[in-house]
Amino acid sequence: MSIRRLPSEIVDRIAAGEVVERPASALKELFENALDAGAKNVTVRLSGGGIGLIEVVDDGIGMAPAEMALALERHATSKLPEDSIDRVTSFGFRGEALPSIASVSRLTLESRERGADGWRIEMDHGRKVAEGPAALPPGTRVRIEELFEKVPARRKFLRSPRAEYAASLDTVKRLAMARPDVAVTLEHDGRRILSLQPSTAPVRVATLLAAELEKHGVGIDCVRDGLGLTGVVSLPTFNRGLPDQQFLFVNARPVKDRLLVGALRAAYRDLIARDRHPIAALFLQVPLDEVDVNVHPAKTEVRFRDAAAVRGLIVGGIRSALDVESHRSAAREQAAAPVAWTSDVAPSATSAPIPAGVREERALFTGIRVEPLARAEPAIEPVQSYPLGVARGQVAATYIVAEAEDGLVIVDQHAAHERLVLERLRAARAGGTVPRQDLLIPEIVELDEPDCDRIETAFAQLATLGLELERFGPASILVRSVPAALRGPDVGKLLADLAGEIAELGSALSLQERLDHVEATIACHGSVRAGRTLSVAEMNALLREMEVTPRSGQCNHGRPTWVKLAHADIEKLFGRR
Ligand SMILES: Nc1ncnc2c1ncn2[C@@H]1O[C@H](COP(=O)(O)OP(=O)(O)OP(=O)(O)O)[C@@H](O)[C@H]1O
Ligand SMILES: [Mg+2]
Repeated sequence: MSIRRLPSEIVDRIAAGEVVERPASALKELFENALDAGAKNVTVRLSGGGIGLIEVVDDGIGMAPAEMALALERHATSKLPEDSIDRVTSFGFRGEALPSIASVSRLTLESRERGADGWRIEMDHGRKVAEGPAALPPGTRVRIEELFEKVPARRKFLRSPRAEYAASLDTVKRLAMARPDVAVTLEHDGRRILSLQPSTAPVRVATLLAAELEKHGVGIDCVRDGLGLTGVVSLPTFNRGLPDQQFLFVNARPVKDRLLVGALRAAYRDLIARDRHPIAALFLQVPLDEVDVNVHPAKTEVRFRDAAAVRGLIVGGIRSALDVESHRSAAREQAAAPVAWTSDVAPSATSAPIPAGVREERALFTGIRVEPLARAEPAIEPVQSYPLGVARGQVAATYIVAEAEDGLVIVDQHAAHERLVLERLRAARAGGTVPRQDLLIPEIVELDEPDCDRIETAFAQLATLGLELERFGPASILVRSVPAALRGPDVGKLLADLAGEIAELGSALSLQERLDHVEATIACHGSVRAGRTLSVAEMNALLREMEVTPRSGQCNHGRPTWVKLAHADIEKLFGRR
């Protein structure tokens, strides 16, 4: 074996492997350099999703010719004047982005300082091939072509121009949000995509995030232990199938940090289903010596000295902002869109009588029952006393219909009750005593041995929730008491669900989070099912409890528990407006 030092081109290429993964990552480096150079205007031009061309033009301080040559060398940077890697305030500091990109592409660097002439250097896969004077306004222009053309291993992993474009657009959005004071223009294949004027963070975020967030978003602004958090998050009911609308910043640096993403998730625990994701733009301010930005070659991850404090701020800050808004539900506003409510018989003069056969089919299809399952009683109390109104009846043994002062309220009884039971359990646990019900004759539940083992690991936690259990042989568990919130529960089913829950969560979660999950499972078992007939008194009791319970606007899975059809909407349906 003979050991040798690698030639510098190979070293650059190896570094490029870490820094430039795809066009969007090269774009990110150029854009950050422009911002670091104090640019007030940044223009990005792409073609073919950045595979064909990436060009970034800025009006920053520019470079003198000698500096340009140095900038293309590895480990050359102007950004650590005192060699202090602990207090980084610029985006870049590693001094390797330009040489890395230059080693895997054709790169043209043009730059001009104020009051000086411009200069151009052309690089071809790490070699300088030309240089000379250049005409350009003060600032810097970098063009990248033939990216990865001579690196088949990378080329192979490039996705379609469309997908690469999406990644580049995401990069531009993140940096544009990080620096709302900078004007940003993006063109793709000759088309103008973005043209952002200098502005404030809230306005910039509103321009770049889902427009609906104006209606379905909650502002965040809190400070704790020297850490600050600002931004906007969506109401739990306004969620997405992908976590692609989550923009996180640490001291104005866009990051994709696991800790922060996890904290955001945790803030929505049991407000949103596990496979749904909130929308968020969150700006975290941390003292420079509390965060290490030098943990990832692409600088998209960071490490916090006090990770628990950061997590606590995010979870607590979002949670309390959502609590204030907890009676809002996205569906309530959506109900204003009459589409969801359109009757399937158009009330038009031209509609022909429905043929008998079709009528029968329709009746079958919609499962219309002749007898209402609960009868409306004359309202004794005036409807205007209650935001959710007075119960008028039950539909399909699943939905409560109530009359409120300004419209018709429809409640999903299971979803709503499940939420109430969960909040009751929580309040009781916070108060230190969860009411429990001792079983006169302890029940023995048979489960397979691994499930019994899993549940046994949680005996102490479950006891704090009122579920007292004892191991009763290898494959059975003795149940001594259950939470009082569970009325006539199927304990066997509950324990099986809990075992599954514990297996899925593993030991990754904190005690608190595990309890939250277990509570949600208990709440589900303890709540009235869809399909159960309720008396009017029961329905009204449910409505009144919803009105005073926090977070009652959405169920434990982020769906709305109730919707309202306003009088105006009803009038529209009947063509009275
Ligand atoms: N658009 C620009 N305007 C002015 N100077 C620039 C520009 N781009 C790069 N430079 C100069 O070139 C140097 C090298 O840039 P490069 O991106 O390779 O490293 P860096 O930004 O210092 O660190 P990092 O590798 O973390 O990005 C910078 O430190 C800066 O002085
Ligand atoms: Mg840089």
